[in-house]
Amino acid sequence: MAARARARLDPAHWDFFAGGAGNERTLRDNEDAFERWRIVPRVLRSPGERDLRTSLFGDELATPVLVAPTAFHGLAHPAGEVATARGAADVGTVMVVSMAATAPVERIAMAGGPLWFQLYPQPDLTFTESVVKRAEAAGCRALVVTVDSPVFGRRERDLRNGFLDLPPGLLCENMRDDTGRVRNIAMDPDLGWQRIEWLRGVTGLPILLKGVLHPADARLAVAHGVDGVVVSNHGGRQLDGVVATVDALPAVVEAVGGRLPILLDGGVRRGTDVLVALALGATAVLVGRPVLWGLAADGADGVRNVLQRLTTELDQGLALAGAARPADLTGDLVVARP
Ligand code: FNR
Repeated sequence: MAARARARLDPAHWDFFAGGAGNERTLRDNEDAFERWRIVPRVLRSPGERDLRTSLFGDELATPVLVAPTAFHGLAHPAGEVATARGAADVGTVMVVSMAATAPVERIAMAGGPLWFQLYPQPDLTFTESVVKRAEAAGCRALVVTVDSPVFGRRERDLRNGFLDLPPGLLCENMRDDTGRVRNIAMDPDLGWQRIEWLRGVTGLPILLKGVLHPADARLAVAHGVDGVVVSNHGGRQLDGVVATVDALPAVVEAVGGRLPILLDGGVRRGTDVLVALALGATAVLVGRPVLWGLAADGADGVRNVLQRLTTELDQGLALAGAARPADLTGDLVVARP
């Protein structure tokens, strides 16, 4: 799928999607870290028909594999995020709509599947509030606040390619303000916990913090009353050298102690990766680049195929590890490789 996507994409756009920050150590390590875990299956447990349904914030999803928020789907396919949303809706999972989507959230919502909205809180609070209200009105069911980006990461492929902005004809449609102007997305170096409290007052939607890696921040998230945490390093696109997400997960799980659902993204490429993340305490995972490859290769069908393949692999992995449902995946079913 990645090879087919690559063949179809403008090389600079491929680099934008595929690349990471700095030396891309973290980008590589997200995948490599899954290599360091091995499964210790149970036998004779009669897994029977597996049941992958996953409840999050009152909604029931068909699978614990969700679509991570990624920017600029219009570069991958003419139907952009609308096609991605159709693929996700077909498998019965959540698409997290990026604030940097190239389609308006109202049009993405017409695909009919469950959506969450990813937010980079903007220094302009009035505008931030209007974006949140717009996402709510479009039917988004949760707000995913990205907290790992007080400044942009240094993406050297983009610097080399001179890829700085969307080509003519594509815009960040959800950054349109009430004058009709499309604003640039600002990273806010002053973003702090007080902004999360402010958001709590602005919306009744569940709030997830995306980009938590340190267990102390996970404890603060609980203390500030957020509803969920996404263990993420932005797919290795922000600070290079940051810990791989599956390596950071156990300490975050321990710090949270079951008080919030914990999701993980970064390097999930196989159903067995999902299995390992769930066994280590994640409730669900999100996938970024594989969805983009599906979209670029085959539009909505490609997205559906990627999500379906991961789900089928997870289903088979569950059976072979002696589990019937995600909740049966306990920490004793995985070991770190010596
Ligand atoms: C991202 N990611 C991201 N995250 C976010 O919160 N807002 C965004 O707009 C984007 N944009 C974006 C663009 C592209 C091209 C990529 C690859 C990633 C990060 C994304 O949500 C997620 O954390 C990672 O993609 C997960 O890693 P994998 O699955 O790509 O390895």
